[in-house]
Amino acid sequence: MSSAPLPSGLIVLKSYSEEDIEIEALRLQNSIKQMSLWDLETCRTIAPLTLEINELKREKDVFLIAHSYQTPDIVYGVADSVSDSYSLSKAARDAPQSTILFSSVRFMAETAKIVSPHKTVIHPSPEAGCSLSDSITAEDVRKLKEKYPGVPVACYINTSAEVKAEVDVCVTSSNFLKICEKLPGNRIIFVPDSLMGKHLTEHLAGKKEVINYDGECYVHATFTGAKIRSWRERSLVQGLDLKVLSHPECDADVLAESDVVGSSEKLMNEALKLSQEGKPDIMLITECGTADRVRAESENEINLIGTCVMCKYMKMTQLEDILQSLRAPRPEQIIELDSEVIQRAQYSLNEMFRLAE
Ligand code: 13P
Ligand code: SF4
Repeated sequence: MSSAPLPSGLIVLKSYSEEDIEIEALRLQNSIKQMSLWDLETCRTIAPLTLEINELKREKDVFLIAHSYQTPDIVYGVADSVSDSYSLSKAARDAPQSTILFSSVRFMAETAKIVSPHKTVIHPSPEAGCSLSDSITAEDVRKLKEKYPGVPVACYINTSAEVKAEVDVCVTSSNFLKICEKLPGNRIIFVPDSLMGKHLTEHLAGKKEVINYDGECYVHATFTGAKIRSWRERSLVQGLDLKVLSHPECDADVLAESDVVGSSEKLMNEALKLSQEGKPDIMLITECGTADRVRAESENEINLIGTCVMCKYMKMTQLEDILQSLRAPRPEQIIELDSEVIQRAQYSLNEMFRLAE
C-alpha cells in the first residue's frame, strides 16, 4: 500500500479532547509498527474513528472480527479477533456477543451467520466478493452431483452459503488435506479452487481420485515457481538463507519450491518463529496483509524479501465503513440468509469442525 487509508470526510466524526486523540494515536502507532505509512500524524487523523468504533462495540454488544488481510488500522485499531478463515468461523460461533461485525469479504460474513444464526451479523462492505466464491454457483454443484452420483463433495470455505448448502463438507486452507483424506470412498469432488485441487490431487495420489473444478484466487494465481527460483538464486549470491512460505491457493510449482505451506495464520506464526530463531530472510507468497501482521508482531529482526500482492476485495473495507455500519447499518449490510440454506450449510460446516479436530 503506498499510503494509509485516511477518512474521506464523507461521515461526520465525533470530537474528542486533544489528550484522548494523542493517547489513541500513540496506541495505534505502537501496535501497527509501520512508521513509514502510519506516522503519528496519520494515527491522529484516524484516532476519532477507532475511538468511536471501540465505544460503539461496547455499547451495542458487538464482537468485531477481522481477517488477517484487512488493513493494519482495522487489525490493530478495532478488531477483537484476527486470524484465518477456520479460526474466525469458530470465533464467530463462540462469541457471546449478540452482534458480530465481520470486516472481510462477503463469504466470511455469511459463514458467521450460518454458524450463529441467532446473532445479527454486520458486513460493512456488501460489494466485497472473492474471485473463488464468485466462480461457482449452487446450480454448478448440483450438476456435478448429477454427473458423479454418490461421490462426496468437499467445498473450500471461499464459497457462498448456497454452495455450502449443497455439499457434504466444507474445508479451509488449514485443514483441506486432513479432511479430504478422511472422506469415504476412492473419489471426491473438490470445488472451486483448481490450484488447491491440484495440490490435493498430488497429496491423495494412489489413494483417491480428485474431480477438480476451475476456480482460482486471482491474487495467489499470480505467483510462479520460476519467480521463487530466481529469488532463491539471488539470495544465495548474497549469502542469505531464504525461507519461502506460501499459501495453498498458489499453483503446485510454487508450493513445490516452498519451505512452508499453510493458512494465513500459519504463515504468520511460522515467519515469527523463523525470525525468533535468527532466520530473518523470508519470502511470503501470499496477500500483503500477512506481511503487515508479521511486521507488526515480530519482536526480532525480519527481512521480508520480494513483493506481496493485494486483494482488492479484502481492501474494500475501511474504518469509515465500519463506523457507519455500527452507527446505523444499511439493510444490505446485515447478512440475511434463507433458513433452509442456513440449516443445510450448517451441516457442511459442522462436518468441517468435527473432521478438523
Ligand atoms: P485463510 O483461511 O488462510 O486465511 O485464507 C482465506 C483467503 O481468502 C486466502 O486468500
Ligand atoms: Fe478471495 Fe483471493 Fe481475495 Fe482470498 S485473496 S478473498 S481467495 S480473491
